[in-house]
Amino acid sequence: MPVKTGIRYVKSDKDDPTQMEVTPLHMLWMALLLVIMGLAQPSETSPCYITEDELKAVCQGRSLFSVPQDLPVNLQVLDLSYNKIRQINSGDFSTLTQLKDLDLSYNKIMFIATDSFSSNILLEQLNLFNNSLEEIPSQALTPLKQLRELSMSNNLYPRSTLDGTFSTLKKLEVLSMGGSAVRTIASQDFLSIKEIPLKKFALKTSSSLLEYQKGAFSKLNTTALWCDISVDRNTKALPLILHDLRGKPLQYLRFRKLFEFMYYMDTSDIFSGLAEVEAKELVFFRGKFNENLLRLALLNVQKSLIRDLSLIAIDFARSPEWKPPEAGIANLTLRHLVLKDINNPDILRFDWTFTWFAGVTYLFILNVNFNFVPCDAWGEMRNVVALNVSRNRLENNNIYNQACIYQDILPKLEDFNMTHNELASLKTVATMTSSWSQLSKLDLSHNLIGGLNEFSCTWTPSLVWLGLAYNAVTMDIFKCLPTTLRFLDMSYSQLDRLDLDYFERAVDLQELLLSGNKIKFIPTEWKCPNLRILHVDGNSFGAIGKGSFGNMPDLAYLKAGNNPYHCVCDLHGFLQEVLSNSKLTLLDWPHGWTCYHPEPLLYTSVAAYAPRVTDCDVTVVVAIAVSITATVVIVCMVLCWRFDVPWYLKATFHIVRSKYRAGHSQPSKPFAYHAFISYSCSDAEWVRRELLQRLEASTPPYRVCIHERDFTPGRWIIDNIIENIENSHKIIFVLSRHFVDSEWCNYELYFAHQRAVGLSFEDVVLVVKEPIDLQALPNKFCKLRKMLSSKTYLEWPLEPSRQPFFWLQLKSVLGKAEMVPVDPRNADPNDDVLSDTEPTLDGLTDSTLELDNLSLENITVDTQMS
Ligand SMILES: *[C@@H]1O[C@H](CO)[C@@H](O)[C@H](O)[C@H]1NC(C)=O
Ligand SMILES: *[C@@H]1O[C@H](CO)[C@@H](O)[C@H](O)[C@H]1NC(C)=O
Ligand SMILES: *[C@@H]1O[C@H](CO)[C@@H](O)[C@H](O)[C@H]1NC(C)=O
Ligand SMILES: *[C@@H]1O[C@H](CO)[C@@H](O)[C@H](O)[C@H]1NC(C)=O
Ligand SMILES: *[C@@H]1O[C@H](CO)[C@@H](O)[C@H](O)[C@H]1NC(C)=O
Repeated sequence: MPVKTGIRYVKSDKDDPTQMEVTPLHMLWMALLLVIMGLAQPSETSPCYITEDELKAVCQGRSLFSVPQDLPVNLQVLDLSYNKIRQINSGDFSTLTQLKDLDLSYNKIMFIATDSFSSNILLEQLNLFNNSLEEIPSQALTPLKQLRELSMSNNLYPRSTLDGTFSTLKKLEVLSMGGSAVRTIASQDFLSIKEIPLKKFALKTSSSLLEYQKGAFSKLNTTALWCDISVDRNTKALPLILHDLRGKPLQYLRFRKLFEFMYYMDTSDIFSGLAEVEAKELVFFRGKFNENLLRLALLNVQKSLIRDLSLIAIDFARSPEWKPPEAGIANLTLRHLVLKDINNPDILRFDWTFTWFAGVTYLFILNVNFNFVPCDAWGEMRNVVALNVSRNRLENNNIYNQACIYQDILPKLEDFNMTHNELASLKTVATMTSSWSQLSKLDLSHNLIGGLNEFSCTWTPSLVWLGLAYNAVTMDIFKCLPTTLRFLDMSYSQLDRLDLDYFERAVDLQELLLSGNKIKFIPTEWKCPNLRILHVDGNSFGAIGKGSFGNMPDLAYLKAGNNPYHCVCDLHGFLQEVLSNSKLTLLDWPHGWTCYHPEPLLYTSVAAYAPRVTDCDVTVVVAIAVSITATVVIVCMVLCWRFDVPWYLKATFHIVRSKYRAGHSQPSKPFAYHAFISYSCSDAEWVRRELLQRLEASTPPYRVCIHERDFTPGRWIIDNIIENIENSHKIIFVLSRHFVDSEWCNYELYFAHQRAVGLSFEDVVLVVKEPIDLQALPNKFCKLRKMLSSKTYLEWPLEPSRQPFFWLQLKSVLGKAEMVPVDPRNADPNDDVLSDTEPTLDGLTDSTLELDNLSLENITVDTQMS
């Protein structure tokens, strides 16, 4: 292939541009090559498929005219069959030194150069079948000492003579040779392979052999002999052939087209030599057989060692004017008798009896077109252990004849195969076989069973295996099934529902095949106590869960792919359980397991479906919810404790309660005081002596509220605090370490702050009596801390010289005593705010009205205050 090499040249050029200097001449050369390449476009792809390890190349049917030259050198297998190669040249395979298997069949090879295979000394298989060789290429084969299989039949060489070369092919095991040009088999043709024991020798001759020379096959030492030899015109050749095979270590003898054009009409016994041939198996393939020839063959088989006889694809015809002989074929003892692919069913009853079946153990009548079984046939099959009548045209009425007696016939039959027929009634089969005591296996696949509604069928108790695949059954079929089964195959039978009752009764059932049906639902109550293998793939159910197959305690293998699965938690649960448990094996996981529901998962693999744990597991959801709640509660509790929330709650509660009481008791009298002083009792002395005196002594005097003097006796202290704070224009806090320690001061501060909410802090006056460490303040004083840091406060100076300035500051903060304004929101404009009415009076009346309120609270408060 010059074009091919051109491409390779250009390629290697491109791969390694440094290799050549680019000259104008080179450019021209390149251009020329590119043109050639362009012309050669179609054949640019390699004609061979080469495996990745480069050990095998398949170049079948590529219309090659010659052996491709660019093959990997390590090739071991090369297939060049079905091409148009005409000759093999010296160098064609010279690089392929590792070649072991070379297929050159179906070419047009006429010539093989003598040194073609000189480099291929490892070659073990060479196929030259169906070429045009006009002579056997002995010279070329000489180096092939490792050759085991040589096929060179269907060529055009006219003689079957093997020369001396073949005596050197010591490893040869299989040799097939000859062709339609071979008309003569000469006595010395196979002399050279006399010493070579073969496993198979096949010889093809012209459709009509002219001459078989005595002694030709006696040179052979082969286990199997395939004769593609027609003796139409030379019937005497057959006895000679059989004679030459006497005592040979032959096991298998096969004749193809023994009579190609004519039926044998002669009476001379051409098979008489058969008795002395040692072959155990005899096959007649194709060719014309009449009753006469068959009878001659069988009579001699009877006397021979042949145990297996096959008649395959023969053209059988009755012999005209044939008179049935007195003695039938009554002594034929065969292990296997195979009648296959025969158009004429007359062969079964070839001399009008069925006696030739009497000694057969395994009887195969396959594709013989028979549709009727006469009563006497049943009786003759008394030694049959397995009967295979597959691919015929049997119908119920024809196989079961009311007039026949089916009792105690076929006493040895164990295996009855009636697949690929036209049987419709299961009950008929049951009735027919009900007394066959050994029948254990019945195959009725590929029939028409299921249309009839049949029940109470009687079966032989020995039946354990039933094949009903490829029928068209309904749920009614279960009413007729035997309950002794261990194996039931009802695949591809359009079954859409299961009869659970049947499975409870069929306690021995171990293997159930229901693939390819239309089962829409797998009920959880499906009990099958001993089932080990179940196939339900290719059905129509989508929902399975943990409970499915739960009533099959022994289930070990399950095939369930190709169903329209609902990828929901149930399925996930089922798979989790199965895949983590070694007891049950999913035979087809994950191939074919596909989601059909819900829609977002359509056509995705079930194996890829992995819901979150929280999607499926309720206990996990509950556990998570509980722990979250617990955490929140704990966090709340910690926060409450940390930020004194209980204290605030208590204080808020007090405000609310006080507001409530206030609403019920008396309207507040806002700004009855200029100032409310909040202080701890440790600071009482200072307050009375310094603060109170100074404020009340000023002109005009400030009205000041202090708890020990102005609180209404008998009222609850919190109410007192709140009311008086509300009634005071300003609130003065006397801050000291003791203030911080006093609970009541805290309340006062809190309420003052509450009052200030929404307004400003203007009303709060902070008097720092002694310095306090802000950082040391407890958390609940964050307000105070904030006020102290954001608001200017008044510090009480210890030096007396600075004290007048303090008073000045304080008074300016408090404002002029007369000018106490009335808050328009809180007070009735007619109300005299700073009236002379003693606020205590209100309190007194109030307390007298609420005598029962003089409770322990007040007493405790009083003690606390002191
Ligand atoms: C090769 O096979 C073809 C088709 O199968 C057939 O027509 C042809 O005669 C065969 N050639 C030889 C030499 O047998
Ligand atoms: C045939 O070959 C075997 C070896 O496989 C040998 O034992 C036997 O003697 C040979 N028979 C004849 C008849 O040559
Ligand atoms: C049947 O074969 C047995 C041996 O297998 C033989 O003894 C007997 O004579 C034969 N009978 C007939 C009728 O050929
Ligand atoms: C025929 O039936 C037998 C037994 O039922 C079975 O083993 C065998 O495979 C069948 N053979 C053919 C060629 O159908
Ligand atoms: C019955 O024969 C069919 C083929 O004809 C074969 O495929 C099948 O396996 C056989 N049945 C049994 C039980 O062997």
